[in-house]
Amino acid sequence: MLCDRYRDFTRLVVYQIYPRSFMDSNGDGIGDLQGIISKLDYIKGLGANAVWLCPCFKSPNDDNGYDISDYRDIMDEFGTMADMDQLIEELHSRGMKLILDLVPNHSSTSHRWFRESRKGRDNPYSNYYVWADKPLNDWKAAFGGSAWEYDEMRGQYYLHSFAVSQADLNWDEPAVRQEMIDIIDFWVNKGADGFRIDVVDSISKDYSNPNRGKFGPHLHEYIRTLFGREEVSHIFTVGESNVKDIEELVRHCGADRGELTSLFVFDHMDVGRSDKFTPKEDSLKSLRDILVYWQQETDRNEILYTLFTDNHDQPAMISRIGNDSELRYESATDIATMMYLLKGVPFIYQGQEIGQTSAHFDDINDFDDVESLGHYKEMLERMSPEEALEKVNFGSRDNARHPMPWDGSEKCGFTEGEPWLAMHSRSAEINVEKDLSSDKSVYRFYQKLLALRTGNDVFLDGDLDVLSAAEDDHFIYTRTLGDEKWVVVCNFEKEQDIRVPLECGKAMLSNLGREDADGTYLPYECAVFRAV
Ligand code: GLC
Ligand code: CA
Repeated sequence: MLCDRYRDFTRLVVYQIYPRSFMDSNGDGIGDLQGIISKLDYIKGLGANAVWLCPCFKSPNDDNGYDISDYRDIMDEFGTMADMDQLIEELHSRGMKLILDLVPNHSSTSHRWFRESRKGRDNPYSNYYVWADKPLNDWKAAFGGSAWEYDEMRGQYYLHSFAVSQADLNWDEPAVRQEMIDIIDFWVNKGADGFRIDVVDSISKDYSNPNRGKFGPHLHEYIRTLFGREEVSHIFTVGESNVKDIEELVRHCGADRGELTSLFVFDHMDVGRSDKFTPKEDSLKSLRDILVYWQQETDRNEILYTLFTDNHDQPAMISRIGNDSELRYESATDIATMMYLLKGVPFIYQGQEIGQTSAHFDDINDFDDVESLGHYKEMLERMSPEEALEKVNFGSRDNARHPMPWDGSEKCGFTEGEPWLAMHSRSAEINVEKDLSSDKSVYRFYQKLLALRTGNDVFLDGDLDVLSAAEDDHFIYTRTLGDEKWVVVCNFEKEQDIRVPLECGKAMLSNLGREDADGTYLPYECAVFRAV
């Protein structure tokens, strides 16, 4: 059983927005806050009751807002503080919550802190970043190249775990921790209901750890400094972290830890690939097995789990392990059913609700993602441009960052101007307008699925039992609360006969109109029943 506070959070259904690509209101080709406001009814209509905005703070945009130059101001392209105040108000008046993206590990090198810090060793910001006369180790930056950059002005190297213009903040400096506390309080006072915390595993570093020093010695102390405070004890927090086992997860999110309320665990995000840029034949079975493991462990340890398959850093899940052509609707709805009736907090990434797939581009110049371009350059040393392009097409974060296709017109109803990033290669076929008018609408399926979940407490903290066996090519699980029991059946890739070992009523939800629990299931067919 989850503690009361965590159980309340299972009522959240979070819709993740990549503001740059969601909706442009003023024709400059870049999504913005007014664009988001104009689509709040669409999001609420889906059944979401919270929005997580990727960073919308002042930034030169080398990493699309993950390089912040002022944590208390809005990115010029996205609008003004008045727009943000309006967004908060419009969300709250619809009974929806706002989750902001906090980027504590690094700032942009154009942040005032860095501009001061590089001036010398005896100014108030001198220790805000990690400076050294020589690189302290041979870490590689996540986006390619060394993680240490020489700065002429200061005459020293600084650390950047990501792009050269994303300098790591020095969390061992108390003033940096205080700055971040003040930033959190500033946004909570403005009305933020929670935060997603970017690469939180990196804020305390162990310089001898080859994995860029993640999970350093003071990590938990620093997280508690931020979130273990009475003033913010009501907010929802979800950290991005490379946590690999349950003990580590418990150390971050145990109810008595005073740290985070939840964490994204990425174990299941490796399905369908052998590394970030290399696909691998895979089945929904791999996804099931990883999910089952984490569901059971988080349940036993009373941890609030996060339910997600996609985000702004990932190629589409249905393109990796589903059939994203003829059975796109079936794959999208089956995977969603598998995921969102489990225990935890659902996160839906923009476009997922219309069955958005990964894209394909013939020209490397169509890509924008700093990570893809960095790795492409390195790949060229090992392979032909064609092979490298193929890999980028598979793994690029731009797969998730194309402008949201609202309709099938040339600019997809996203903008009247020139979109900042090429439209998705399949946007004439996959777009909101078309999905809503189709009898195989992914959006409408999501609506029913989410309504089922939020309308029945059994899906919040009800017990979870897995009925399918490890060798089965399907997933059957039940959720039970008191004498109420629900059965979720998700078939995988092959058509097959399935017998459900429980007596069930007629289907309460299904993606292909089935009524009975037992019988032949088509590929990716799924249905939900009440046991009688
Ligand atoms: C996280 C973000 C990613 C960003 C990186 C650096 O992984 O999700 O988009 O590039 O951190 O901030
Ligand atoms: Ca705009």
